[in-house]
Amino acid sequence: MAPSVVVLLLCLLGPAGSLPPPRTSFLLNSADRPLVHFGPPDVHNTTTLLLSNDGSTLYVGARDAVLSLDVSQGDVISLKGKVEWRPSQAEVNSCQDKGKNPTVDCPNFIHVLQPINSTHLYACGSYAYSPHEAYIEAESFSMLQHDGAKGRCPFSPFQRNTAISVDGELFTASMTDFRGVKPQISRHFSKNNRPDVNLDLSVSLLEEPVFVSSTSDPAEKKLYFFFTEVGNEFSFVDDLKMARVAQVCKDDVGGQRTLQKKWTSFAKASLLCQSPKQLPFNVLQDVFTLQPPEGSSSLDTLFYGVFSSQWSLGPQSAVCVFRLQDIRTVFAGSYRTLDLETHQWKPLLEKHWYLGKCGLGNASDSDLAEVKRSFLTSSDVKPVTDGPVVVSSGQRYSRVAAVRTEAANGKEYTVLFLLTESGFLHKVVLFDQGASLIEEIQVFREPQLVKSIVLSSTKGVVYVGTSEGVTAVPVAKCSIYRSCSQCVLARDPFCGWSLSREVCSALDSSSDAMVQDLENGNVEEKCQRQARASQSAEVSVHLNEVVRLPCLKPSNLATLTWTSPQFENLTEKLFIQSADGSLSFLAAAATFGTYHCEAEEDGYKVVVASYTVGQMASPRFMNPSSHGDKHHMSNSEDGFYEDIITEEPLNPTKLPSGDAQDGGDEFTTNFNDKTAASKEGSGLKSSVDGLNLTATSRTDTWSGQQPVEKSYFSELVVVSLLLVICICVLVLAGVHTWRQRKTGLKMDPLVGRELSPELKVVE
Ligand SMILES: *[C@@H]1O[C@H](CO)[C@@H](O)[C@H](O)[C@H]1NC(C)=O
Ligand SMILES: *[C@@H]1O[C@H](CO)[C@@H](O)[C@H](O)[C@H]1NC(C)=O
Ligand SMILES: *[C@@H]1O[C@H](CO)[C@@H](O)[C@H](O)[C@H]1NC(C)=O
Repeated sequence: MAPSVVVLLLCLLGPAGSLPPPRTSFLLNSADRPLVHFGPPDVHNTTTLLLSNDGSTLYVGARDAVLSLDVSQGDVISLKGKVEWRPSQAEVNSCQDKGKNPTVDCPNFIHVLQPINSTHLYACGSYAYSPHEAYIEAESFSMLQHDGAKGRCPFSPFQRNTAISVDGELFTASMTDFRGVKPQISRHFSKNNRPDVNLDLSVSLLEEPVFVSSTSDPAEKKLYFFFTEVGNEFSFVDDLKMARVAQVCKDDVGGQRTLQKKWTSFAKASLLCQSPKQLPFNVLQDVFTLQPPEGSSSLDTLFYGVFSSQWSLGPQSAVCVFRLQDIRTVFAGSYRTLDLETHQWKPLLEKHWYLGKCGLGNASDSDLAEVKRSFLTSSDVKPVTDGPVVVSSGQRYSRVAAVRTEAANGKEYTVLFLLTESGFLHKVVLFDQGASLIEEIQVFREPQLVKSIVLSSTKGVVYVGTSEGVTAVPVAKCSIYRSCSQCVLARDPFCGWSLSREVCSALDSSSDAMVQDLENGNVEEKCQRQARASQSAEVSVHLNEVVRLPCLKPSNLATLTWTSPQFENLTEKLFIQSADGSLSFLAAAATFGTYHCEAEEDGYKVVVASYTVGQMASPRFMNPSSHGDKHHMSNSEDGFYEDIITEEPLNPTKLPSGDAQDGGDEFTTNFNDKTAASKEGSGLKSSVDGLNLTATSRTDTWSGQQPVEKSYFSELVVVSLLLVICICVLVLAGVHTWRQRKTGLKMDPLVGRELSPELKVVE
């Protein structure tokens, strides 16, 4: 059975490829993808998260406080309990005396929050640069006691560390001194009268490590710590960083004479994450442990590691997947030995059975002397797929969570939630053909130095903790896909199209027949008879008026084409197709008719908007958008467009010479405003690395909602056109007046005066 699971897992992972842009994007507070936020004004830096086993309570380490939040209701997060835990003024002063900033460094920032037994939580906080620890009764949410900690969490609020409690014992990996340069991996609260154990500091076992994560392997009774450190095994490269995994045995008691109260089981191995012919991703940002599927061996436990590269110039990251079995194999293999004089690593020629093993409490001094200096494995841990499963050349991912889910086809898929430095959560599905970024959701505004992410698989929610508060992001919102084709094209394993209810919904909700095609997104086959005919919106306009027909992309990956039965193709000079998808042209007898906007994605075409453009009967005031029922032109850009068509009649014969200049000025101002607005828009886009972000990129195209994307190309053309017309009129009028003056000096001056009222009327 095990091999088949392995094959299945291998299939799930798929090969690597650079990640395509997100299919859909949601900015913060998007109505389409609502999030639940907890961030009362008196709560700050909610950066350490711990979810209760039943998924109904979220414990949060904040600034000067520990909170318990009720997250049992999907749509609201409420405060259940809060314990204040702040340093006294005297302690803050003493922190300040040591050269620390009282508001930035000296509050108590919680680094560790772990269950220590069935009733209590253990917490460790930076506490005015003097780490303290506390026990909190989980039910009543009251603090029992607190004292100065002994190197169980960092002094600095910004230094990373990791901790894990197993059977009431606490294992920590942290810097342990004020300057933050002395690393230590320790066991605390040791049971059965055995001593607390930590690293032998007589040998340099770790070089400037940054700890990111830890996990336990109950079957082997081991713990693993993931970190990045300076690798000194290659003496020819300075400051080469290496991603590592270190092991210790849970029940290690240290040696009898050699290595007393020190780990006899400590060993470390490199984690490789590299695409062929590329520089390695060698800096570990985070690791998520994905437990094996129900009923399969713990050997199939997977570790999803997010990496960046020491050498990359831009934001770049990769996700590599490692298997517990491979890690075990590497630690059971051969080791290198450190020459304690020269600090050079050499391969150990003979294999020693005891290296990397548990239970060396009674081992001989000579064996332990060998253990002491042979703690780096000869082999490296390679990822399951030989290379990354996700490579992103535009994003720096900092945190990861993974979940396995069964899709409508009965097959299991792995979905990753990756947090970007710029504040977006990326939902990535690992398909056989490669990774696909199906959603991008903004979860915070400012880049965060400290943040965390926790996934509740029971509730289907990802919690993100930052200095801005705690945000709950449901793993999926299927109802945003409003047609069968959109539901299928979304390729979201959490969603399917219910044939009986004709809605896109979460899979577990019923035993309905669900339509989905994750591998191919084959709409044609899956959505037969499900396609609704799109209604054509009537647009009435005046002759010579600029008509702009909006069309919204159903996804960032779709391409839009305009068609019309009257024209072979609409790329002719008469038509302008803007970057926002809209089509603009001058209303004329030849251009009245029907227009369709078609979106193509994955080879599937669907008409997303249809218009019938005809001449307006009444002479005054028209607005094509007002005829498309729900079309609302609310943003400044469209306001500008309305300016053109309503206030500046395009009938050149009516344009007065005197006011033409003003009109021109007005255009210029308006145009400049718009350029500024558009630049703002593009600034936002570039800040998230060129991704095409739209607040409502997923909008119901059938109801014909208005796109709110910014583009000024069409306006530029239109304005230029109008300017040219104005100038022509001006010149003509000027010539006319000049002639009148020249020829008719003898003319009745009244004629000249009569001109003015006429001008006023037109204005
Ligand atoms: C849990 O740990 C706390 C703190 O050490 C202790 O006071 C309490 O009695 C323990 N509870 C149980 C059930 O062991
Ligand atoms: C060491 O050996 C003694 C006696 O043989 C045994 O009682 C003890 O449990 C052993 N300790 C360890 C750590 O294996
Ligand atoms: C705490 O929050 C503030 C913003 O409210 C932020 O500037 C600071 O970096 C945060 N500190 C930590 C340790 O997260």
